[in-house]
Parts: sequence; structure tokens; C-alpha cells
Amino acid sequence: MDAILADGWVQQIEWFPSIDSTNAAARRRLAHSAGSHPLSLPALWVADRQTAGRGRLQRTWWSPEGCLMLTLAIGEQSLPRQAQDWNQLALVSGLAVANAVASFLEPHEVQLKWPNDVYVGGKKIAGILIESDARVWLVGIGLNVHLDWSQAPEEVRRRATCVTSASGRQTSRQVVLVELLQQLHQVISGWAQGKLDWHAAWHQRCLLTGRVIHAYLREEQQIVGVCEGIDLQGRLIVRHESGVVHLTAGEIRAWQ
Ligand code: BTN
Repeated sequence: MDAILADGWVQQIEWFPSIDSTNAAARRRLAHSAGSHPLSLPALWVADRQTAGRGRLQRTWWSPEGCLMLTLAIGEQSLPRQAQDWNQLALVSGLAVANAVASFLEPHEVQLKWPNDVYVGGKKIAGILIESDARVWLVGIGLNVHLDWSQAPEEVRRRATCVTSASGRQTSRQVVLVELLQQLHQVISGWAQGKLDWHAAWHQRCLLTGRVIHAYLREEQQIVGVCEGIDLQGRLIVRHESGVVHLTAGEIRAWQ
């Protein structure tokens, strides 16, 4: 905690042995931040365990102790001046998480699956849930550091990995947390100030570019085509039989 506060970016940290969800805790704290309990941003909530961890698309997030789980709250003053750029926060946060993971592995092994899942060797190592509330943006991150695979649900065992398994070295959540916060600070500030070519950096780590992908826009609507990367706004470019689309939202469920 001291190393994070000493960096001077994060202004306050709350650490829970167990909580329903750090994103939910952040929202509750924000709701009480007016008046006598002002909140200094960026603020951070970290949990050893979550009892109701939330994922994207209304999914649950398996939240044991070996997963590093946190929510970072960022004020709009830390974002780019143009509000139309703010939806890039999801991609930029993914880039920061990927960079942090890469410092514990062979850097080129770490890839980003649009919009912001972090993959190593075809398996998911981290996921991000972005929410916004009262002009504050919440970046919820679950990063698998050292999972006890004997306790993991079948689905997680099949599709996920963790830093310890991928690197072959026992890694601690504290060490990963410090690296992660440094990357978030560097990448988000660089992006906000227009000093970081986040698009080129993202493109280098893109898992889907050049692959045939199955994109689900809504349950009943599927597009199959070749991914041509992301555009400057962070939309996924897909060439399919009747043209090229730039997706703002959706889920890629399969790729070859
Ligand atoms: C996803 O890939 O679906 C996103 C997963 C995000 C999980 C993290 S864990 C910390 C924070 N609190 C939550 O309830 N969810 C996010």
C-alpha cells in the first residue's frame, strides 16, 4: 500500500478481506461522497475475496484469494479533454493490464482480446469491467495471479490461466498490484495527455487481427468475418461477405 501511495497518483486505498464486489463497494462509497465524506480521486478498492464478483455482460466473476481484484475510480479530469474519447478507457485499461502482466512473462506472449480481455497462450488471465457513476469512472480489474486449480470451476480450468502457471514462478499479488498501478498511471495519463500512441501499442498485442472471428452483437445477430484490427476510436474492424463493419460493442465468442 505504501509503495502505491508513495507514487502520488492514487489518493486513497481501502482493502477488504472479503466484500461482495469492489465495483459495488466503490459505487456505495461514491453515493456517500457528497458532503462530509469527500472522496479524493483516483481512489482504489482492493479485495482478498469477493462473494459476488461481477463480470462483463451480467456474468459472475470467480473471485478466490489468488485473483487480484480491484476497482480504480478515476475522475473525468484525469481523462482526455474530448468526451468522445472516453469510451477508449476500456481499451487503454486493457493495455495497462497487459503491460503489467507482460513484465512477469515473455512480453510478446501477452495479448488483448477486444475489447479488453488479457490472454496468454490462448487462455484468459485478466478481465476488466468499466462502469461510470456520477462523473466518476470505475475500472474493475480481476487478474489471476496464483489460482488454486483444484478449487476452480470446470469452465475456469478450461479457459483461464494465471501468472504463476504461465510463468512457472510463484508470484505474489502485492508485487503484481504495484506493477499494475504503475502501468495504469503511466498508460492512462499518457492517453489523457495525448502523449501515448495507445492505438499502435494495442494493435501490437491484438489477438484477433487476421483471424476469422464470430462476433455476437445481440443474441440473435452474429457476424462472421476477418478481423482487421481496431480503428482509432477503439472499434473492432471486421471484413465480412457484404462489407466492412466497425463494432462499438459485442462479444467475440470464437476465433480461428
Ligand atoms: C470480465 O472479464 O467479465 C470482467 C471481470 C472483472 C472482474 C473484476 S474483479 C474486481 C472488480 N469487481 C467486480 O465485481 N468485478 C471486477
